[in-house]
Amino acid sequence: MSTRLAHFIREVRAEVAAARATGLSIGLVPTMGALHAGHGRLIEQARAGSGFLVVTIFVNPIQFNDPSDYSKYPKTLEHDLAFCAERAVDFVFAPALDEMYPREPQTFVDVRGVADEMEGRFRPGHFRGVATVVAKLFNIVQADRAWFGEKDAQQLAVIRRMVADLDFATEIIEAPTVREPDGLALSSRNQRLTPEQRRVSIALYEALNAARAAIESGETSAALIKERALQVFANYPEVTPEYLEIADPDGMTLVDAISGPVRVAGAIRVGNTRLIDNVLAGRKQP
Ligand code: PAJ
Repeated sequence: MSTRLAHFIREVRAEVAAARATGLSIGLVPTMGALHAGHGRLIEQARAGSGFLVVTIFVNPIQFNDPSDYSKYPKTLEHDLAFCAERAVDFVFAPALDEMYPREPQTFVDVRGVADEMEGRFRPGHFRGVATVVAKLFNIVQADRAWFGEKDAQQLAVIRRMVADLDFATEIIEAPTVREPDGLALSSRNQRLTPEQRRVSIALYEALNAARAAIESGETSAALIKERALQVFANYPEVTPEYLEIADPDGMTLVDAISGPVRVAGAIRVGNTRLIDNVLAGRKQP
């Protein structure tokens, strides 16, 4: 069966209800489009784990704190539809702005704590926008399971917390980060990099790996680990680090001393492009 495209909420509700009535489980992969192999990994995992698979494509304005980031966000619907069709997605929901926000919204989902540090600190309002749109998509699609990438580990933690606190019936499933051969995490924003910017963008993953190596060699002081990681940027003057932090992987609060597995996460600016990445470290405890 071919992939069907819908722009309206009522079409999604009708299709999902019909699929559920035939006994199929409903899977959901929310995206902002400009689909790449990172999304592909999520979609392939979701395909294997769903009877009826819905991919949503919506560039959500309320999660962008930087208007130019929103206006420059790549839009490649035709490519995205072919991408979904190749992966046997059943249904693509690509609503227009008016369909998702027909009036100025007065209701928002505001996750505290887990959303406060790192991205939350540097992108005020971002997670409020993410949690709100994901809550809307969960209500529209009513999926049994939804897939999210480790690439956005704090987003994943925010969604998990929202689901737990608000008793959503959708189970959250995590998919690992897909990287370029040199280690750069795939991102729709990579498209904006010049070849030289693309080359130096690897600084972030190198810095995260330096932190991971320090942690795995037994260093426990977060300050010393961060210092070591930030030294990497000395080799990349074109790259401006925004933050590099070490956090508890579930609660996403910053840690001073390593005593178990941690999430090392960072953000950089390369020219006008902002990139984020993270790694898990300290799995192996002595
Ligand atoms: P977007 O950036 O399009 O990402 C959609 C999903 O793909 C997210 O769960 C993200 O973590 C995952 N993803 C992106 N790059 C990846 C990579 N290199 N490897 C593995 N997974 C990757 O995240 C969003 O959209 C939005 O915030 C959204 C959740 C759709 C709400 O608007």
